[in-house]
Amino acid sequence: MCGIFAYVGPRDPVPIIMAGLKSLEYRGYDSAGIAIVQDKNLQIRRCSGKLKNLEDMIERAPITGQFGLGHTRWATHGRPTEENAHPHRDCKGRIVVAHNGIVENYIALKKKLIDEGHQFTTETDTEVIAHLIEKHFAGNLETAVMKTIAELKGLYAFIAISADDPQKVVAVREGAPLVVGSVDGEGFVASDIPAMLPYTRSILFLDDHEIAVVARDGVRLLAASGAAREPHFQQITWDPVMAEKGGYKHFMLKEIYEQPTALSNTVLGRFSLDANVIHLEDVAFTDEQWKSFKRICILACGTSWHAALAGRQMIQSFARLPVEVDYASEYRYRNPVMEPDTLFIVITQSGETADTVAAQKMVRDRGFKVLSITNVVGSMSTRLADAVLYTRAGPEIGVASTKAFTTQLVCLYLLAIHLGKLNGRLSGEEIRRALTELMELPHKMEAILEHAKEIEDIAKALFRAEDFLFLARGVHFPIALEGALKLKELSYIHAEGYPAGEMKHGPNALIDENLPVVFLAAYDPASADSRQCYEKVLNNVREVKSRDGIIVSLGNEGDADLMENSDHYFSIAPTNEFLLPILEVIPLQLLAYHVAVRRGCDIDQPRNLAKSVTVE
Ligand code: G6P
Repeated sequence: MCGIFAYVGPRDPVPIIMAGLKSLEYRGYDSAGIAIVQDKNLQIRRCSGKLKNLEDMIERAPITGQFGLGHTRWATHGRPTEENAHPHRDCKGRIVVAHNGIVENYIALKKKLIDEGHQFTTETDTEVIAHLIEKHFAGNLETAVMKTIAELKGLYAFIAISADDPQKVVAVREGAPLVVGSVDGEGFVASDIPAMLPYTRSILFLDDHEIAVVARDGVRLLAASGAAREPHFQQITWDPVMAEKGGYKHFMLKEIYEQPTALSNTVLGRFSLDANVIHLEDVAFTDEQWKSFKRICILACGTSWHAALAGRQMIQSFARLPVEVDYASEYRYRNPVMEPDTLFIVITQSGETADTVAAQKMVRDRGFKVLSITNVVGSMSTRLADAVLYTRAGPEIGVASTKAFTTQLVCLYLLAIHLGKLNGRLSGEEIRRALTELMELPHKMEAILEHAKEIEDIAKALFRAEDFLFLARGVHFPIALEGALKLKELSYIHAEGYPAGEMKHGPNALIDENLPVVFLAAYDPASADSRQCYEKVLNNVREVKSRDGIIVSLGNEGDADLMENSDHYFSIAPTNEFLLPILEVIPLQLLAYHVAVRRGCDIDQPRNLAKSVTVE
């Protein structure tokens, strides 16, 4: 939430900061602002609304200078007005701050600062940071920042510049993400890696309470005590082109189409079919450690939580281990019973979701081992984890998660087979079959994408509906939830995912001739359980049909029964039951996308949302 970007170097900072903000805009788009220092003068431009408004403002009233910072906001404290847009100033307008997160004790700090004579002009929590730095400033910005963070409570990342200590940006984080880059006499600070990729792939990830002083001659790193620390830069393999739209109209569409390749990257080198082996050597657990886990608890938020629900069924079926799943945002507050020998898994695309990271800290502090399934190298979750399984999806920019989700599912599939092999629950033949089907999956995903037009036609027929239901059973149920979430977040249509068998306990009352009901009815012909589940779903299809609901079904190729009962039908190639969710979700992503396009919604920046939720 909120994107921050800073530049110091020989070039005009304005276009560089604006480009940085553009690539961070998915983190928040309520308002935007920029502050530039030119020859000891500090100038600010801010406005409400999207970055485009700021671009127009700068065109009307240009600024230039030697260094500066910018911000794109997702409002937490204070309405998304121009006054509340970052950057925020001290009383004299000599120091400015751009901030991501929440200063929890800002009311007490603000009161104290007002008593001391500071004048506030905004409703934000951020403004206290600017005034605190002002209070502690005696010519050196990093010293003032050091004294400031000693007074702050909450989760935050901020960057500060001063017209009176020029040619440097001071950056600090506590919980919220912040990365630093330094190359050939230029320094950069950003909320996220993709904004940095046009300049460098050598990235410094700040630790909590570390202070980075970014200048033309490099980066100095200080501990909160002021002691110097050695900066350790990490190499990122993401290509800058991966973070661009590449001819697609929206990032989301590009990312939907990237899924077959992303999935191939996820599995690359992670299994050998001839030996029926899963290679998870990059995950720092020994076989003995894996075997010592007697149960698993998975914590996640949003779409990653849906992956966790599907993962539970995979692990329970393949490895026969008990698996609990909870929202990371709920787990800490329900006094959980934590059994010994539990492996905790956190699933988080960004590795920075505040609730997930906080839950991870809690279980780690209680002495449990944590595996992080994440997409972002160096993210907070990776640094708190005992072991990491990277999804290798490449940068995901669209706020609605797509390729991160399918690669999370495939990681869980590999993990479930790995655990099933280690504890002797899966035979060599079963493993070989499960892996053969995995190998064929990217082609089946491509086949679905080749028929995307059919989904577009369904969207055309149904985009005016005001409610949708998504129904499924078993491992398909989390995909019903995900389908409903995609539609809600992109098109603002009310949608619910429901277990198909629960319809008769209430939701049947909603059915009428205006309600589209999407059924996930594909099955694995080789599995009796899967077939049985399908037959039950077919009964539910008939029940809805007899009450005049509009039936949209995803089913196996050539399923005459299902087709006959459906108003709209999309076919899916059969595969292993636990891989079907990966295929099923693609038409649902496309459905949400095309419905939202037809309704004129903002695909990559849905209202009130942000990609990375760094507040609790
Ligand atoms: C936000 C995003 C979702 C994402 C969720 C969890 O709500 O919009 O797409 O699923 O955060 O994010 P994480 O990075 O922890 O997977």
